[in-house]
Amino acid sequence: MDRCALNGCFAPAQREKWLNAVAHRRSVRAYADAPDVEQMSALHYAAARIRLPGMRIAIGEAASAMLFRKLPFVEQIGGTNRYAAIIADDRADPRAALYAGAGGEALVLEAASLGVGTCWVAGFRRSGLEGLSLEPGEKVLAVTPLGIPADRPEKSAKRKKLGEICLGDPAQWPMWAYNAAECVRRAPSALNRQPWRISFAGRTLILSRSGLGSPLDFGIAALHLSLGMGAAPHTLRWGEGREIISLVAEEQV
Ligand SMILES: Cc1cc2nc3c(=O)[nH]c(=O)nc-3n(C[C@H](O)[C@H](O)[C@H](O)COP(=O)(O)O)c2cc1C
Repeated sequence: MDRCALNGCFAPAQREKWLNAVAHRRSVRAYADAPDVEQMSALHYAAARIRLPGMRIAIGEAASAMLFRKLPFVEQIGGTNRYAAIIADDRADPRAALYAGAGGEALVLEAASLGVGTCWVAGFRRSGLEGLSLEPGEKVLAVTPLGIPADRPEKSAKRKKLGEICLGDPAQWPMWAYNAAECVRRAPSALNRQPWRISFAGRTLILSRSGLGSPLDFGIAALHLSLGMGAAPHTLRWGEGREIISLVAEEQV
C-alpha cells in the first residue's frame, strides 16, 4: 500500500476552514454574477497552493453557454463566466486522477468558505476551454463554474443514510471514526451515486469503492475522510483493488 501525499499536505487552519465549509457547500448552477476582485484573487492564490502529485488547477474565463451543456433534470449552468479546470497528468503520477479529485474538492471548499458557488462538472464541452493551455500529457478531468450564487436557494442532493454506507453500526464506533465517516457521507459525487463503503476495525478506517464511481469521486471522498478527523493525527495510505484508501488514527485519539 502506498503512502499518500495528502498526509501533512495542508495547514491545520486550511483544513479547519474546509471542514467547516463541508456542511454548507452544495452544487450551484444558477449564478447572479462572477466573483468579485477580492474573491478572484483569493481563488487564484488557493489554486496555486493546492498542488498534489500529477494535478493542478487553472482558473479561466469562458462564456458559460460554451462550456456547459443543458442536461436532463438539472438546471443549465449560467450567470458567471469564471471557471476552474481540474487538470491531471497520469504520466507524472499514476494516482493523478485521485489527487485531482482531492485537490479539486479542496478548491471547491475554499470557494464555499469565500461565499463563491461551484459545481463539479465532468460532462463539459471541451471546445469551451479554448483559452486554456495544457502541457503535453495533461487532461482536464472536470471544470467548475465560479460565481456568486443567484438569490434562489438550491438544496444539496439527498444523501444515503450513514448506516447504508458503513459496514457495521457507526453509532458503536469511536467519535473520531463516526465523524470521519459522516464527512465522507456529505461528499459530492457524479450523479450523486455516493459509490463508497466505510469499514472500521481497531484504529483503522477503510474507504472502499461500491458500484460505479470515478477516481475523481474517490479522491473527493479521500479528502473528506481526512478532513472529518479534524485536528486528530492520522496517516493515510492508498489501497489496491476495491480499497481506495485507509486511515490509521494515532494512539492518542
Ligand atoms: C466528479 C463529479 C462530476 C460531476 N459532473 C456533473 C455534471 O457533469 N453536471 C452536473 O450538473 N453536475 C455534476 N456533478 C454534481 C453532482 O451531481 C452533485 O455533486 C451531486 O448531485 C450532489 O449534490 P451536491 O453537490 O449539491 O451536494 C458532478 C459531481 C462530481 C463529484
